[in-house]
Amino acid sequence: MANTVSQVTITPIHPCLGARVEGVDLASPLDAATFARIFDAFQEYSVLVFPDARLTDEQQMTFSRRFGPLETTINSIGQERRLHPNLVDLSNVDPRRERGLMGWDDRRMLYQSGNQLWHTDSSFKPVPALASLLSGREVPPVGGETEFTSMRDAYATLPEATTRTLEGKVTVHSILYSRSTIAPGLFDPEQEREQPPVRQALVRANPVNGQKSIYIGSHAWYVEGMDYDESRRLLDELLAHTTRSERVYAHRWRQWDLVMWDNRCVLHRGRLWDAALHRRVMRRTTVAGEGPTADPPFARRTTVWDGIIPEGVGV
Ligand code: OGA
Ligand code: MN
Repeated sequence: MANTVSQVTITPIHPCLGARVEGVDLASPLDAATFARIFDAFQEYSVLVFPDARLTDEQQMTFSRRFGPLETTINSIGQERRLHPNLVDLSNVDPRRERGLMGWDDRRMLYQSGNQLWHTDSSFKPVPALASLLSGREVPPVGGETEFTSMRDAYATLPEATTRTLEGKVTVHSILYSRSTIAPGLFDPEQEREQPPVRQALVRANPVNGQKSIYIGSHAWYVEGMDYDESRRLLDELLAHTTRSERVYAHRWRQWDLVMWDNRCVLHRGRLWDAALHRRVMRRTTVAGEGPTADPPFARRTTVWDGIIPEGVGV
Protein backbone atom coordinates (compact mmCIF):
# COMPACT_ATOMS: atom_id res chain seq x y z
CA MET A 1 0.00 0.00 0.00
CA ALA A 2 1.42 3.38 -0.92
CA ASN A 3 1.15 5.84 1.94
CA THR A 4 -0.51 9.20 1.54
CA VAL A 5 -1.04 11.72 4.27
CA SER A 6 -4.73 12.07 3.49
CA GLN A 7 -5.35 8.47 4.63
CA VAL A 8 -3.80 8.88 8.06
CA THR A 9 -6.21 9.13 10.97
CA ILE A 10 -5.19 10.08 14.49
CA THR A 11 -7.59 9.31 17.33
CA PRO A 12 -6.88 10.27 20.94
CA ILE A 13 -7.21 7.29 23.31
CA HIS A 14 -6.93 8.88 26.76
CA PRO A 15 -7.57 12.38 28.19
CA CYS A 16 -3.93 12.82 29.24
CA LEU A 17 -1.86 11.22 26.51
CA GLY A 18 -1.87 8.79 23.63
CA ALA A 19 -3.39 8.48 20.17
CA ARG A 20 -4.07 5.63 17.78
CA VAL A 21 -2.63 6.07 14.30
CA GLU A 22 -4.34 4.25 11.45
CA GLY A 23 -4.29 4.33 7.68
CA VAL A 24 -0.54 4.11 7.37
CA ASP A 25 1.62 1.13 6.43
CA LEU A 26 4.85 1.54 8.37
CA ALA A 27 6.46 -1.31 6.40
CA SER A 28 6.34 0.86 3.25
CA PRO A 29 8.23 4.10 2.64
CA LEU A 30 6.68 7.23 4.15
CA ASP A 31 6.73 10.45 2.16
CA ALA A 32 7.68 13.68 3.94
CA ALA A 33 4.08 14.81 4.48
CA THR A 34 2.98 11.48 5.99
CA PHE A 35 6.01 11.37 8.25
CA ALA A 36 5.43 15.00 9.31
CA ARG A 37 1.88 14.11 10.37
CA ILE A 38 3.20 11.27 12.56
CA PHE A 39 6.04 13.42 13.91
CA ASP A 40 3.59 16.17 14.90
CA ALA A 41 1.26 13.65 16.55
CA PHE A 42 4.21 12.29 18.50
CA GLN A 43 5.05 15.76 19.84
CA GLU A 44 1.43 16.36 20.76
CA TYR A 45 0.20 13.01 22.13
CA SER A 46 3.45 11.52 23.53
CA VAL A 47 2.29 7.92 22.96
CA LEU A 48 1.32 6.60 19.53
CA VAL A 49 -0.30 3.20 18.98
CA PHE A 50 -0.06 1.66 15.52
CA PRO A 51 -2.34 -1.40 15.48
CA ASP A 52 -1.40 -4.36 13.29
CA ALA A 53 1.91 -2.83 12.17
CA ARG A 54 3.50 -6.21 11.31
CA LEU A 55 7.07 -4.98 11.11
CA THR A 56 10.18 -7.06 10.60
CA ASP A 57 13.24 -6.07 12.64
CA GLU A 58 14.66 -4.25 9.59
CA GLN A 59 11.42 -2.33 8.97
CA GLN A 60 11.15 -1.37 12.62
CA MET A 61 14.69 0.02 12.55
CA THR A 62 14.04 1.88 9.28
CA PHE A 63 10.90 3.57 10.62
CA SER A 64 12.56 4.35 13.97
CA ARG A 65 15.56 5.98 12.26
CA ARG A 66 13.25 8.57 10.72
CA PHE A 67 13.18 10.12 14.21
CA GLY A 68 16.95 10.09 14.65
CA PRO A 69 19.93 7.81 15.26
CA LEU A 70 19.24 4.71 17.34
CA GLU A 71 20.81 3.75 20.63
CA THR A 72 22.89 0.63 20.68
CA THR A 73 22.48 -1.92 23.42
CA ILE A 74 25.40 -3.96 24.64
CA ASN A 75 26.34 -6.04 27.62
CA SER A 76 22.91 -6.17 29.15
CA ILE A 77 22.07 -8.96 31.54
CA GLY A 78 19.06 -10.93 30.45
CA GLN A 79 19.74 -10.63 26.77
CA GLU A 80 21.40 -13.61 25.26
CA ARG A 81 19.99 -13.51 21.81
CA ARG A 82 22.37 -12.02 19.32
CA LEU A 83 20.12 -9.53 17.63
CA HIS A 84 21.19 -6.40 15.79
CA PRO A 85 22.82 -4.00 18.31
CA ASN A 86 20.01 -1.46 17.68
CA LEU A 87 17.39 -3.92 18.92
CA VAL A 88 16.44 -4.78 22.47
CA ASP A 89 14.95 -8.21 22.93
CA LEU A 90 12.39 -8.41 25.71
CA SER A 91 11.36 -12.01 25.84
CA ASN A 92 10.69 -14.82 28.27
CA VAL A 93 11.55 -17.49 25.71
CA ASP A 94 14.74 -19.24 26.78
CA PRO A 95 17.15 -18.85 23.83
CA ARG A 96 18.76 -22.17 24.68
CA ARG A 97 15.47 -24.07 24.70
CA GLU A 98 13.18 -22.63 22.05
CA ARG A 99 10.06 -24.09 23.68
CA GLY A 100 11.23 -23.36 27.20
CA LEU A 101 9.90 -20.37 29.10
CA MET A 102 11.73 -18.37 31.73
CA GLY A 103 9.66 -17.66 34.83
CA TRP A 104 10.17 -14.67 37.13
CA ASP A 105 12.61 -16.68 39.24
CA ASP A 106 15.08 -16.80 36.33
CA ARG A 107 17.97 -14.34 36.79
CA ARG A 108 17.55 -13.01 33.24
CA MET A 109 13.91 -12.20 33.99
CA LEU A 110 14.87 -10.60 37.28
CA TYR A 111 16.86 -8.03 35.36
CA GLN A 112 13.92 -7.41 32.98
CA SER A 113 11.63 -7.03 35.99
CA GLY A 114 13.15 -3.56 36.44
CA ASN A 115 10.78 -2.64 33.58
CA GLN A 116 7.90 -3.08 36.01
CA LEU A 117 8.99 0.02 37.90
CA TRP A 118 7.76 3.33 36.49
CA HIS A 119 10.65 4.63 34.42
CA THR A 120 11.75 6.51 31.36
CA ASP A 121 14.20 4.70 29.09
CA SER A 122 17.90 5.42 29.42
CA SER A 123 17.53 8.22 31.99
CA PHE A 124 20.62 6.62 33.59
CA LYS A 125 22.69 7.43 30.49
CA PRO A 126 24.44 10.80 29.96
CA VAL A 127 22.19 11.39 26.93
CA PRO A 128 18.78 9.88 27.71
CA ALA A 129 16.53 8.41 25.01
CA LEU A 130 14.18 10.53 22.92
CA ALA A 131 11.73 7.80 21.94
CA SER A 132 11.18 4.07 22.26
CA LEU A 133 9.29 1.90 19.80
CA LEU A 134 8.03 -1.42 21.11
CA SER A 135 6.60 -4.10 18.88
CA GLY A 136 4.47 -6.94 20.20
CA ARG A 137 5.62 -10.06 18.38
CA GLU A 138 4.01 -12.60 20.71
CA VAL A 139 1.71 -11.40 23.46
CA PRO A 140 0.11 -13.22 26.40
CA PRO A 141 -3.69 -13.66 26.50
CA VAL A 142 -3.88 -12.01 29.94
CA GLY A 143 -1.59 -9.57 31.74
CA GLY A 144 1.61 -8.12 30.31
CA GLU A 145 0.08 -4.72 29.58
CA THR A 146 2.31 -1.68 29.28
CA GLU A 147 1.17 1.39 31.20
CA PHE A 148 1.95 4.99 30.32
CA THR A 149 1.57 8.25 32.18
CA SER A 150 2.33 11.83 31.26
CA MET A 151 5.02 13.76 33.15
CA ARG A 152 3.80 16.78 31.15
CA ASP A 153 0.30 16.51 32.58
CA ALA A 154 1.89 15.92 36.01
CA TYR A 155 3.83 19.18 35.68
CA ALA A 156 0.77 21.09 34.50
CA THR A 157 -1.28 19.94 37.50
CA LEU A 158 1.26 20.69 40.22
CA PRO A 159 0.72 23.81 42.33
CA GLU A 160 2.64 26.73 40.87
CA ALA A 161 4.57 27.15 44.12
CA THR A 162 5.89 23.62 43.66
CA THR A 163 6.91 23.98 40.03
CA ARG A 164 8.79 27.16 40.97
CA THR A 165 10.92 25.19 43.44
CA LEU A 166 11.63 22.44 40.88
CA GLU A 167 12.86 24.79 38.17
CA GLY A 168 16.62 24.52 37.60
CA LYS A 169 17.07 21.52 39.92
CA VAL A 170 19.23 18.57 38.90
CA THR A 171 18.45 14.93 39.70
CA VAL A 172 21.08 12.22 39.83
CA HIS A 173 19.96 9.06 38.01
CA SER A 174 21.54 5.65 38.30
CA ILE A 175 20.61 2.18 37.08
CA LEU A 176 22.55 0.71 39.98
CA TYR A 177 20.22 2.61 42.31
CA SER A 178 17.03 1.46 40.54
CA ARG A 179 18.17 -2.17 40.31
CA SER A 180 19.24 -2.11 43.96
CA THR A 181 15.58 -1.48 44.84
CA ILE A 182 14.56 -4.81 43.27
CA ALA A 183 17.53 -7.10 44.02
CA PRO A 184 21.05 -6.60 45.29
CA GLY A 185 24.05 -7.79 43.31
CA LEU A 186 22.52 -7.78 39.82
CA PHE A 187 25.67 -6.18 38.43
CA ASP A 188 29.24 -7.32 38.92
CA PRO A 189 31.90 -4.71 39.84
CA GLU A 190 33.06 -4.41 36.22
CA GLN A 191 29.50 -3.54 35.07
CA GLU A 192 29.13 -1.14 38.00
CA ARG A 193 32.14 0.82 36.81
CA GLU A 194 30.52 1.13 33.37
CA GLN A 195 27.39 2.78 34.84
CA PRO A 196 28.43 5.95 36.68
CA PRO A 197 25.52 8.10 37.94
CA VAL A 198 24.40 10.89 35.62
CA ARG A 199 22.80 14.31 36.08
CA GLN A 200 19.41 15.14 34.54
CA ALA A 201 17.27 18.26 34.65
CA LEU A 202 14.23 17.80 36.90
CA VAL A 203 12.13 19.98 34.58
CA ARG A 204 12.44 19.63 30.83
CA ALA A 205 10.77 21.48 27.96
CA ASN A 206 9.83 20.01 24.59
CA PRO A 207 12.06 21.82 22.05
CA VAL A 208 9.29 21.86 19.39
CA ASN A 209 6.31 23.20 21.35
CA GLY A 210 7.95 24.41 24.57
CA GLN A 211 5.67 22.31 26.81
CA LYS A 212 7.30 21.55 30.13
CA SER A 213 7.32 18.31 32.04
CA ILE A 214 8.93 16.91 35.12
CA TYR A 215 11.50 14.17 34.50
CA ILE A 216 11.68 11.44 37.13
CA GLY A 217 11.24 7.63 37.29
CA SER A 218 12.89 4.60 38.87
CA HIS A 219 16.45 5.62 38.04
CA ALA A 220 16.01 9.04 39.71
CA TRP A 221 18.09 8.65 42.87
CA TYR A 222 18.32 12.01 44.60
CA VAL A 223 18.11 15.73 43.91
CA GLU A 224 21.36 17.64 44.12
CA GLY A 225 21.65 20.33 46.77
CA MET A 226 18.89 18.87 48.97
CA ASP A 227 19.05 16.76 52.09
CA TYR A 228 19.02 13.13 50.85
CA ASP A 229 15.90 12.01 52.73
CA GLU A 230 14.05 15.16 51.79
CA SER A 231 14.95 14.70 48.14
CA ARG A 232 13.81 11.06 48.25
CA ARG A 233 10.50 12.26 49.72
CA LEU A 234 10.15 14.84 46.96
CA LEU A 235 10.86 12.27 44.22
CA ASP A 236 8.42 9.79 45.78
CA GLU A 237 5.70 12.46 46.02
CA LEU A 238 6.24 13.55 42.44
CA LEU A 239 6.04 9.92 41.31
CA ALA A 240 2.80 9.36 43.25
CA HIS A 241 1.32 12.51 41.69
CA THR A 242 2.42 11.50 38.18
CA THR A 243 1.10 7.95 38.40
CA ARG A 244 -2.36 8.65 39.82
CA SER A 245 -4.67 6.13 38.17
CA GLU A 246 -6.71 8.71 36.24
CA ARG A 247 -3.53 9.77 34.42
CA VAL A 248 -2.56 6.25 33.33
CA TYR A 249 -3.21 4.68 29.95
CA ALA A 250 -2.83 0.88 30.07
CA HIS A 251 -2.04 -0.64 26.71
CA ARG A 252 -3.50 -4.11 26.30
CA TRP A 253 -1.32 -5.68 23.61
CA ARG A 254 -2.54 -7.33 20.45
CA GLN A 255 -0.04 -9.16 18.32
CA TRP A 256 1.77 -6.82 15.89
CA ASP A 257 0.92 -3.61 17.69
CA LEU A 258 3.72 -1.08 17.54
CA VAL A 259 3.66 1.48 20.35
CA MET A 260 6.02 4.42 20.47
CA TRP A 261 6.47 6.87 23.32
CA ASP A 262 8.27 10.09 24.13
CA ASN A 263 10.78 9.35 26.88
CA ARG A 264 11.25 13.07 27.52
CA CYS A 265 7.79 13.35 29.05
CA VAL A 266 6.32 9.86 29.55
CA LEU A 267 6.83 7.27 32.27
CA HIS A 268 6.00 3.67 31.49
CA ARG A 269 6.06 0.27 33.13
CA GLY A 270 5.37 -3.31 32.12
CA ARG A 271 2.80 -5.35 34.02
CA LEU A 272 3.14 -8.90 35.22
CA TRP A 273 1.86 -11.93 33.36
CA ASP A 274 2.24 -15.63 33.96
CA ALA A 275 5.73 -15.89 32.47
CA ALA A 276 6.10 -19.58 33.22
CA LEU A 277 2.97 -20.28 31.15
CA HIS A 278 2.71 -17.70 28.36
CA ARG A 279 5.18 -16.39 25.82
CA ARG A 280 5.75 -12.66 25.58
CA VAL A 281 8.21 -11.57 22.90
CA MET A 282 8.73 -7.85 22.33
CA ARG A 283 11.30 -5.95 20.29
CA ARG A 284 12.35 -2.42 21.10
CA THR A 285 14.19 0.18 19.12
CA THR A 286 15.32 3.30 20.95
CA VAL A 287 15.86 6.69 19.35
CA ALA A 288 18.80 8.49 20.95
CA GLY A 289 18.28 11.84 22.62
CA GLU A 290 19.70 15.05 21.25
CA GLY A 291 22.07 15.87 24.11
CA PRO A 292 22.54 15.97 27.88
CA THR A 293 19.70 17.57 29.85
CA ALA A 294 22.04 19.07 32.47
CA ASP A 295 25.72 19.96 32.41
CA PRO A 296 28.09 18.41 33.21
CA PRO A 297 26.45 15.05 32.41
CA PHE A 298 28.28 12.87 34.94
CA ALA A 299 27.71 13.07 38.67
CA ARG A 300 30.38 12.62 41.29
CA ARG A 301 31.33 8.94 41.32
CA THR A 302 30.06 6.88 44.20
CA THR A 303 30.21 3.15 44.81
CA VAL A 304 27.70 2.90 47.60
CA TRP A 305 24.43 1.13 46.90
CA ASP A 306 23.22 -0.30 50.15
CA GLY A 307 21.52 2.47 51.96
CA ILE A 308 24.55 4.52 52.89
CA ILE A 309 24.13 8.13 51.90
CA PRO A 310 26.72 8.98 49.28
CA GLU A 311 29.40 11.54 49.88
CA GLY A 312 28.43 15.03 48.83
CA VAL A 313 24.67 14.52 49.06
CA GLY A 314 22.86 17.24 50.90
CA VAL A 315 25.46 19.90 50.42
C1 OGA B 1 10.61 -1.08 27.45
C2 OGA B 1 9.76 -1.44 28.61
C3 OGA B 1 7.80 -2.66 29.26
C4 OGA B 1 7.00 -3.77 28.71
O1 OGA B 1 10.51 -1.75 26.42
O2 OGA B 1 11.36 -0.09 27.55
O3 OGA B 1 9.92 -0.89 29.66
O4 OGA B 1 5.78 -3.78 28.93
N1 OGA B 1 8.82 -2.35 28.37
O5 OGA B 1 7.59 -4.67 28.07
MN1 MN C 1 11.37 0.81 29.36
